[in-house]
Amino acid sequence: MCGIVGFSGTREAAAVLIDGLRRLEYRGYDSAGIAVADGSAINMAKVKGYVKNLSELTHDGADIRGQIGVGHTRWATHGAPNDVNAHPHISSDGRFAVVHNGIIENYALLRQELTKKGYAFVSDTDTEVVAHLLEMYYDGDEKKAVMKAAARLEGSYSLGIICAGGRLFAVREQSPLILGLGVGENYFASDVAALVPHTKNVIYLDDGEFAELTPEAITVYDVRGRAIDKPVSKVAWDVEAAEKGGYEHFMLKEIMEQPACFKATVEPRIKNGRIEFENFDLSDQELRGIRRIVVTACGSAGYAGQVGRYVIEELCRIPVSVELASELRYRNPIIDSHTLLVVISQSGETADTIAALRECKARGARVLAIVNVVGSTIAKLADHVIYTWAGPEIAVATTKGYTTQVAVLDMLAIYLADRLGLMEKERYDALVDALHAMPGKLQRAIDLNRNIHKLAKRLCKYNDIYFIGRNLDYAVCMEGALKLKEISYIFAEAYAAGELKHGTIALVEQGSLVVSLACYEPLFDKTMSNIEEVKARGAEVLAVALEGNRKILSKADDVIFVPRTEPLFNPIAQIVPLQLFAYYVAKERGCDIDKPKNLAKSVTVE
Ligand code: AGP
Repeated sequence: MCGIVGFSGTREAAAVLIDGLRRLEYRGYDSAGIAVADGSAINMAKVKGYVKNLSELTHDGADIRGQIGVGHTRWATHGAPNDVNAHPHISSDGRFAVVHNGIIENYALLRQELTKKGYAFVSDTDTEVVAHLLEMYYDGDEKKAVMKAAARLEGSYSLGIICAGGRLFAVREQSPLILGLGVGENYFASDVAALVPHTKNVIYLDDGEFAELTPEAITVYDVRGRAIDKPVSKVAWDVEAAEKGGYEHFMLKEIMEQPACFKATVEPRIKNGRIEFENFDLSDQELRGIRRIVVTACGSAGYAGQVGRYVIEELCRIPVSVELASELRYRNPIIDSHTLLVVISQSGETADTIAALRECKARGARVLAIVNVVGSTIAKLADHVIYTWAGPEIAVATTKGYTTQVAVLDMLAIYLADRLGLMEKERYDALVDALHAMPGKLQRAIDLNRNIHKLAKRLCKYNDIYFIGRNLDYAVCMEGALKLKEISYIFAEAYAAGELKHGTIALVEQGSLVVSLACYEPLFDKTMSNIEEVKARGAEVLAVALEGNRKILSKADDVIFVPRTEPLFNPIAQIVPLQLFAYYVAKERGCDIDKPKNLAKSVTVE
């Protein structure tokens, strides 16, 4: 949530900052602002709404002069999204301007203390306390003021701070911040997406560290202000990967990228027909010591975990529970050293997921993270990491992030079952072959549904949509319903088909749309009965079924077909038309697909 950028160079900073904010806008889009130092003063512009408003206000930055600066795109936590609460926030003496991502948990106390000392607050934000603390602690040494102010803060924060004289600092505590090393200029940002147009050489700041950036150098300090050496990493992807590439929306581009992302995630891990993970290899004794697997995550990552649960339990016969990270962290969880904790996160920065990870690790769990963003907090905290090589995901609604997470979970299930001696060679080889075939199946799922926009046009009028299914189909329903509700704002909810008659069916009537997933063949007939039941109550039924299934045609009003795959992998192909359906419904309803209201890509606050 919130994106911050910083620049120190010898050219004008504002345009660089605005471009960086555009690339981070998926992190929050309630307001945008920049502050630039020209050597004697800080020049600032900020405005409610999208980065394009800021760009218009400043004539693409031309009105704000100076070569060192910070920028911010906001997802509001404290204070309404308006011009005043927009970042940067400036100290009363005009010496410091601050941008912030995260939450200062003790801001109310600090605000009280500073108010008593005569500092006047203009905004409702938690961030403004930082600007006044800097002023209060400034005694001629800006670095010292930064350290003293940071020492007073509790909570999560990445801060960008410019000083009127031209110094630029970046501070990190439990919120992502990455430094970019350029030639004659240096940068920082919440995410590499804003850095790759300039450099692929980056430094990942750790909690408690801060840095000073000049055009020539970046110096990183520990919490006590001692300069430290940090490794320089190379970003693996190109700038084009984080651009729309001719598509109208990032979401559509990312849906279309799924065959390639699946391949990039799976193929390098199959060597001579065997699944191998680069960073996850347990001894036989360790493996046999695993009594249960707990998957924890938020949102779609949790729904990927739901698919994983069915597959792991089926193949490995190890009990798996999928826990919402926001609940697990506060539940005094029963976790010990016999628990394998699988943490799933696209961003690797989700606050609740991080907290659940820490809680379970402290109780002795071995932690395996399935993460997309290299160098992210979750990747750093876990004992083992399996990256989903999906590339940058910009649309707030995840698509390729989800399918690659499911891909890793499927591989993990096969790997564990084999290591536990539970799988015949023939079955193993067949599953590996089926994995190889999946990129083609994903493409087929896209190609089969080229006309889904027509269906979306007709069905976008519904205001209540129920997704029903059984077993793996039910797991996919959860993600299908989330996709639809988050980008089209239609009420959509997933129900286990067999559970419907225990209450929810009371809501089903003429004017309801039921999306029935009917790909799990062992329970196909049961699902058909559920279709009959909702049709009898007047609902219209849209079914998702396997190619070649003719029985469904007589039951459902409309059918979306997906290719036949290895049955355990059906969810991967099934979700594709549901993503496309959600996309086109949202488009029909005129929604801002890549930046849905009230949401942000990376939820770094509780
Ligand atoms: C997915 O479309 C959502 N935007 C959201 O549920 C997301 O999956 C969730 O916030 C978890 O994010 P993460 O994978 O980055 O941890």
